[in-house]
Amino acid sequence: MSERIEKTRKYLREYLSQSPYFIKNPAQFSYRYQHSLRVAAIGAQIARADGLDEEELVLGCLLHDISYGREFLTQEDWLNHGRESARIARPWLLELGISPEKTEEICYGIAIHVDDKADFPGEKTVLASLIGDCDDIDRFDIYRVYELLEVNRFSQKEIADQIAWLDIILPAVREYRGITLSSPTATALWRERLDFQIAVYENLYRQLTLPGDEWPDEKPKPEEKEDVPDCAEK
Ligand SMILES: [Fe+2]
Ligand SMILES: [Fe+2]
Repeated sequence: MSERIEKTRKYLREYLSQSPYFIKNPAQFSYRYQHSLRVAAIGAQIARADGLDEEELVLGCLLHDISYGREFLTQEDWLNHGRESARIARPWLLELGISPEKTEEICYGIAIHVDDKADFPGEKTVLASLIGDCDDIDRFDIYRVYELLEVNRFSQKEIADQIAWLDIILPAVREYRGITLSSPTATALWRERLDFQIAVYENLYRQLTLPGDEWPDEKPKPEEKEDVPDCAEK
């Protein structure tokens, strides 16, 4: 690990730990910090496999959510968190000695990672686009499945409603799988994550639909049958 990456990891940890929200919710701090480290590890893997500059991509990935160190008071604050992270990252990257051109490219990628919009000019280069791609690859892992089930109160639904919910989610996840990301390895990792999600939801679907109405105790009992001979009442 380069010295600049190690310094940035420490800077990120310190910056995030100042958030009043994270001070009150330490589990959320751990999630955000660990997520940033995982996104950076995905960036390193992609950069090595696809012949890109590992340090530049890892720095962008580490800093992409740094604005979580400032509390979001409104939905708009959250929506702006990529642009805000770019504002925090810029002086830090310059101080590390990253060239002004590269700093702008990395910051552009950080700025657009939420809603594809920056508030300064820039270009969606492979490096800039990969910052958001690495974020997406981590966000679509197993934790996403767990969160989606929890947020939608899946365990509290009737089985018919659980199946109806899966009928909506499965086609959406299969469609996501068709998306191509900004480098061959990013696309391969993305599809790997989505294949895993599809397998989880398909297995859930199979489990919920398997018994159908075949349960023995739901079959009509012999005495409930209507073919009682007429003579029985006589
Ligand atoms: Fe983000
Ligand atoms: Fe993120």
